[in-house]
Amino acid sequence: MSLAAVTIGEYIEQLSRRVGESLDGLVPPETQPPETIHKAMRYSLFAGGKRVRPVLCIEAARAVGGGEPDGIMDVACALEMIHTYSLIHDDLPALDNDDLRRGRPTSHKVFGEAMAILAGDALLTHAFVVLGGLGDARLVSELATASGTVGGMIAGQVHDIEGERQPATAELLERIHRAKTGALLRASVRMGAIHAGADEEELDALSRYGEHVGLAFQIVDDLLDVLQTSEQLGKTAGKDAAQQKITFPAVHGIEASRRMAEQERVAAHACLEGFGANAGRLHELADLIVDRSK
Ligand code: IPE
Ligand code: IPE
Ligand code: MG
Ligand code: MG
Ligand code: MG
Repeated sequence: MSLAAVTIGEYIEQLSRRVGESLDGLVPPETQPPETIHKAMRYSLFAGGKRVRPVLCIEAARAVGGGEPDGIMDVACALEMIHTYSLIHDDLPALDNDDLRRGRPTSHKVFGEAMAILAGDALLTHAFVVLGGLGDARLVSELATASGTVGGMIAGQVHDIEGERQPATAELLERIHRAKTGALLRASVRMGAIHAGADEEELDALSRYGEHVGLAFQIVDDLLDVLQTSEQLGKTAGKDAAQQKITFPAVHGIEASRRMAEQERVAAHACLEGFGANAGRLHELADLIVDRSK
């Protein structure tokens, strides 16, 4: 069977499996003392996440160089560790106070709050052990900045939490989403491209692609919170309205939000024009991010 004959669904399944195997090799085993923390790290890492960030990273590298450069799995896994840490902390009672994640009880429900906080910290730290091993300071800087407090994930989480008590404006909404989710998705694409040796023009085009799919991703996350069941999502549905979160459906309504996600999809495709067939999977991923049901 040729590569093109593999559907995007099958392709992502295979790639996700490989990401899972790499993560398994990169994180200390459950038998490593102190066992509890390694159990907690692994509980969240291997709970069936979609692995969107690793897949975007690997496919951005392919768009640039035509294949998977050595070490790309380490880059991809570092991204998934940061993402998983952000979810563990996002679910804590002090933040979104959620009991369901990736179809399972949240980390703090199983291991207690102290261990969930530490599991998040440990995944954050370990991401940089893995990434640092590649010896490319640009990658370390990309990941740290995208996770950080100036336009990065933590900045977005701060705006998101403080936004619960603020009037929902379109401007604040976009600032929250670009930071809390968009920054890490953009970094996923950029880090794959940088690791594959992208020139400035390629990196610029792929950064813009990452921004568009990043915004689309969180618009759709907000829509799914309104439209899907908890069973379907593997996380608690309807929570955003209950917590008065500033979301796309809350500010713009469902139909306009759908149209906005659609605009981001179209814009994402346009950014890939110069890449030809090597960007085939990135095109499919932009579609999948908008059309997904979980
Ligand atoms: C959920 O991310 C949190 C957001 C940033 C919207 P994902 O939808 O990628 O979650 P998993 O990794 O598949 O569980
Ligand atoms: C989370 O956004 C973004 C993160 C940085 C983890 P949400 O709070 O909307 O994510 P879900 O819906 O709980 O997955
Ligand atoms: Mg949140
Ligand atoms: Mg949440
Ligand atoms: Mg959400």
